[in-house]
Amino acid sequence: MIPAPKPPSRPGKVSLWRYLRLFRQDILSAQPAKLYRAWMAEFRTPFFRSYLCNDPTLLRLVLNERPDDFPKSDRIGEGLRPLLGNSVFLTNGETWKRQRRIIDPAFEGGRLRDTFPAMLEAARAASARLRPGEVEIEAEASHAAADVIFRTLFSIPIEHEMARGVFEAFRAYQRNQPLLNLAAFLPLPRWFPRFHRRSTRAKAAEIRSLITRLTEARAAEIATGTAPDDLATKIMTTADPLSGQRFDAAEMTDQVAIFFLAGHETSASALSWALWLLASHPEIQARCLAEAQTFLRDPSFSGLSKLPLIRDVFRETLRLYPPVPMMVRETRQRESFRNRAVTPGAQVVLSPWHLQRHERIWTEPDHFDPDRWQRPETRKAARDGYLPFSSGPRVCTGAGFAMAEGVILLATLLAEWEFAPAGPVPQPVAFLTVRARDGIVLRLSRRTEPAGAGPA
Ligand code: HEM
Repeated sequence: MIPAPKPPSRPGKVSLWRYLRLFRQDILSAQPAKLYRAWMAEFRTPFFRSYLCNDPTLLRLVLNERPDDFPKSDRIGEGLRPLLGNSVFLTNGETWKRQRRIIDPAFEGGRLRDTFPAMLEAARAASARLRPGEVEIEAEASHAAADVIFRTLFSIPIEHEMARGVFEAFRAYQRNQPLLNLAAFLPLPRWFPRFHRRSTRAKAAEIRSLITRLTEARAAEIATGTAPDDLATKIMTTADPLSGQRFDAAEMTDQVAIFFLAGHETSASALSWALWLLASHPEIQARCLAEAQTFLRDPSFSGLSKLPLIRDVFRETLRLYPPVPMMVRETRQRESFRNRAVTPGAQVVLSPWHLQRHERIWTEPDHFDPDRWQRPETRKAARDGYLPFSSGPRVCTGAGFAMAEGVILLATLLAEWEFAPAGPVPQPVAFLTVRARDGIVLRLSRRTEPAGAGPA
């Protein structure tokens, strides 16, 4: 097996200031090797402390047992607030709880299955856009994932004028605004000057005005009984069971912005890495093909579990290249972490990136081995060291959606295309999500001629 590379680690001890300098360039290659073995690491400065936690007991404490005592820090949202407003990704406390009560039902079981046909249409459209030869696959994956979001949320394809407008504006926005910015990890004093580039703020305003047009149009359709039965309609017509309130127009814009951002960047990252891993492991790609072809001959949506190997490929991709590499919480009161006293206001860093390649949790942590998911010993590792969607009440709303989307997209693309590596081995870096520093270039060859094609 070829190991799935992580960026070269920094050896041994790294001074905080050096760490911060590296962090500014790229947080993934700033990571010292020992963090892939440690249960906890403490970073101290005169102004703040932060704790990177890999200990499963600590993770359960923060995410599952006492989540209200470890809220998201306000700072994580600083860069994103102009775009995301008061969205569920950024809020805490009662506001967050109310928002989840309205959103969650749209993503549950049967309702989620209603979105699968739209995912398949987006997957077929993505496959039809591909051409034989060398292709930069991240761009294609972004396009496909954005299409999935628009088709499932608003019943419009990416070619729709407004969908395309949002997609293009997001592309420009994310080049300027990293999700994992330094400020999110370092509690800078309140007086410290914040930089929101004017161009970033302007892009955020443009995206929000496009989204507002979409939600206003939908509100009008709901009022006249002509709205399609998609995710947007479900969310806009669901009342909070406790207060009876629905989202008002501004709050719905906030939520759509986060669905688009959280739902399309992450899925695009996972799909790109999955295709690269399959391209560099042709024997596994060949095994997936049989499954994919059977599925596409009769795509029954009760039966995504009929694609067990492709599902395990996607799980293993999320382990090696978690699209959200790190999450940050803040302590509200004194805590004791592994017998160390932790003061209020400390930053708690939860890192799927380290945890999922942790040498004391996973066997051969850097190896791409989808079959591990069928071995009984993986159960414990998965319980202790697998958090691609986070865990507990703040778990990703779209986890089930994203798993189905990943499997449907992979199956559709694999049935029609063969993928081989073409460019250099991609180096993971954290932009908005974990991406390849110089993109991922693959060589594509068509497995079958599309129906109706052939010599004239
Ligand atoms: C492979 C794809 C995806 C991955 C790996 C992923 C991962 C995550 C993670 C780790 C979080 C927690 C972040 C934190 O607590 O700081 C999160 C939150 C969230 N995700 Fe996803 N996500 C994916 C796809 C999606 C999709 C498709 C949607 C919606 C359509 C979505 C919507 C959200 C929302 C709304 C939150 C905020 C939840 C809250 O704070 O209560 N995600 N996601």
